[in-house]
Amino acid sequence: PQVCWLAPEQTAGKQKPYMYTQGQAVLNRSFFPCFDTPSVKSTYSATVKVPEGFTAVMSATSWEKQKDNTFVFKMSQPIPSYLIALAVGDIVSADIGPRSRVWAEPCLIEAAKKEYDGVIEEFLAVGEKLFGPYVWGRYDILFMPPSFPFGGMENPCLTFLTPCLLAGDRSLADVIIHEISHSWFGNLVTNATWGEFWLNEGFTMYAQRRISTEVYGLAYTCLEAATGRALLRQHMDNTGEDHPLNKLRVVIEPGVNPDDTYNETPYEKGYCFVSYLAHLVGDQSKFDAFLQAYVNRFKFQSITADDTLGFFLEYFPELKEKGVDSIPGFEFDRWLNTPGWPPYLPDLSPGEQLMKPADELAELWAADSLNMEAIEAVDIAAWRTYQLVYFLDQILQKSPLPEGNVERLSKMYPKISKSQNAELRLRWCQIILKNNLEAEYSKVKDFLHSQGKQKYTLPLYRAMWGGSEAARALAMETFSATAPQLHVNVQNYVKKILGLEVVQ
Ligand code: BES
Ligand code: ZN
Repeated sequence: PQVCWLAPEQTAGKQKPYMYTQGQAVLNRSFFPCFDTPSVKSTYSATVKVPEGFTAVMSATSWEKQKDNTFVFKMSQPIPSYLIALAVGDIVSADIGPRSRVWAEPCLIEAAKKEYDGVIEEFLAVGEKLFGPYVWGRYDILFMPPSFPFGGMENPCLTFLTPCLLAGDRSLADVIIHEISHSWFGNLVTNATWGEFWLNEGFTMYAQRRISTEVYGLAYTCLEAATGRALLRQHMDNTGEDHPLNKLRVVIEPGVNPDDTYNETPYEKGYCFVSYLAHLVGDQSKFDAFLQAYVNRFKFQSITADDTLGFFLEYFPELKEKGVDSIPGFEFDRWLNTPGWPPYLPDLSPGEQLMKPADELAELWAADSLNMEAIEAVDIAAWRTYQLVYFLDQILQKSPLPEGNVERLSKMYPKISKSQNAELRLRWCQIILKNNLEAEYSKVKDFLHSQGKQKYTLPLYRAMWGGSEAARALAMETFSATAPQLHVNVQNYVKKILGLEVVQ
């Protein structure tokens, strides 16, 4: 059942069926027999025969089409089982760089090519400069049907992406930079157990923001990192800081599905810890060199945090000498094993110039009586998507706003309230629900009908279920209409939120 079979109506083109696999974390055991643990790596080959009019793609270093619609794939580098992926559908491709092409259903291919033509190569080149050779040959991307549960999945040679990234303005490229960063952190150097998932995701967040800093500058990257920090804040507020999942090294008992431990901690607290290591070193280029040496030391291996931190202290003997692993309050052991807010936060003040206007505008909108003159004096026309995202996060934090304010905000900024950008839509829907704006409930419904990404779907159902009677009714109505389109994991998580029975 973890191989996803989609009916034509569940695709973008609505003409032909589609199938895809999603391996991470422990789903590939229902796809092929394997040692389904990230601690084991192997090469693979596959022969896939598909019906006429379909194309098969896989996470493989080479492929060829033979007669009878048979595709032969080979992955020549050792990888863990969770990175083997297959998709079959009515898909076509277009070149977008010297070693990259985009794959999508025919009705999306133009938009996909336009969005990412000529941009991927720069990300790869900067990644190579920072972290060493890109060993996987090609880097292609595949736009998935709307129900794909993730923003992106770093299947080697072929990243799977949500079609929500087709925003029309290249504003959501950070997800692609993230998946590219896994080419070094995760796919080359892999967490040996899912309990240390932060080794994959925390290092990848750090690498993503290093590439982003080189390509887009520090100010923008700090702004994006601030939205990440807001997600961590929301998560810890929801669960309580002391929740056992809010530590970097998680104990996953036998029988527990690692996917059930998924949250923001390995990403954003992990990012803070890697930033803290960089802070201890004190020199960006020295830390970059360390990361490159780390990849080189552990490439094609699966490791634990002890390996990582041991290598760090070995690489910087003067830091080991100083005992940086046991500075009171910042002990490496505390980072790994104590739940809670990160003891160290990287300085995001270089993003101040972009955040401050958004902070100030949010203040104005939260006031009991609105100062329209001051509000109208702020021109958001030129704001980048992440500035708007940051602004909406502030509004959400301050919500519910005084009666009537959100309605006025909605009218004043159609750029926000009518946006088709998924990151903006998510926040706008959260604001609608937190302010119980029944007049705009249809936007929540439309958004949940249009895509099935887990990180968008679950927060909205949580908000609806924690809201008014009307919000709860909206949740039930929306779920019964969309459930068949959702990935089974996402379906089950929503059922849990709504108190419905989960059939195993
Ligand atoms: N590898 C993850 C997706 C994943 C994690 C799938 C755990 C299954 C289990 C991927 O690299 C990821 O983190 N995607 C994020 C991107 C974001 C952090 C930029 C996503 O989908 O939101
Ligand atoms: Zn990731």
